[in-house]
Amino acid sequence: MNLLNVSNVVKRFGGLVALNGVSVQVDRHELVGIIGPNGAGKTTLVNVIMGIYYPDSGRMMFNGRDITRMPPHRRVKLGISRTYQVPRPFSNMRVLDNVAVAAMHGAKELSVGEARGIARDILERVRLADKANLYPLSLSVTELRKLELARALAQGTKLVFLDEASAGLTGDELREILSVIEKIHDEGITIVMIEHVMKVIFNIAEKIVVMVNGEKLAEGKPTEISSDARVIESYLGRRWASV
Ligand SMILES: Nc1ncnc2c1ncn2[C@@H]1O[C@H](COP(=O)(O)OP(=O)(O)OP(=O)(O)O)[C@@H](O)[C@H]1O
Ligand SMILES: [Mg+2]
Repeated sequence: MNLLNVSNVVKRFGGLVALNGVSVQVDRHELVGIIGPNGAGKTTLVNVIMGIYYPDSGRMMFNGRDITRMPPHRRVKLGISRTYQVPRPFSNMRVLDNVAVAAMHGAKELSVGEARGIARDILERVRLADKANLYPLSLSVTELRKLELARALAQGTKLVFLDEASAGLTGDELREILSVIEKIHDEGITIVMIEHVMKVIFNIAEKIVVMVNGEKLAEGKPTEISSDARVIESYLGRRWASV
């Protein structure tokens, strides 16, 4: 059984069809990449799966449960979470408490002490423990991305969507965030990454979904996608130089 099964999802904004019958399956422990040009519908797909918007039609199952019309907080309790394209920490709380608050919104009922204990463990896992007592304002971009990931993990997540977690990072920063993502994946978390940096996604993903104009253009292993004529023509051709 797939962990996530999205079938034929349609989402319109007025006259604009942001998702036009999109179907995606994610297996347990899989690391899936979603690529596609600006405005393809990638973030909208995540928003619909998280319950920020309900789809106009289509169906979504998570871990055997129908989540199509389930409120967002119940989806989080089932183990679906996401990071934002632009990090959104609570700036008036220390890093530790940012993660502890997320833990308290997760699947289990926790005291503040228990939540802080979980937060400390998770900060170790994402290699941010040395910043636990700082405020988000003093973190680097890489550290803010790790904090986003830590907050998602704190909710007891099984599946996490990373919306452009590597955007704007280069060199050592990029390698650091990718190694944390791979570590979390090795620990058993299912990951769906939305990415613009092709060399990142082709190196790390087990399956790639290509979206264009609100539709799924192609889906397959990185080697299949990189040699798919339609994908090269509509998207990769323009970006291949950066691989
Ligand atoms: N809340 C909204 N209201 C109206 N239109 C929206 C809304 N959210 C997204 N859209 C539109 O839906 C389309 C898909 O947008 P979306 O943000 O999902 O694209 P994306 O693939 O994530 O792009 P990017 O790579 O730039 O992040 C775009 O035309 C966008 O303007
Ligand atoms: Mg987006």
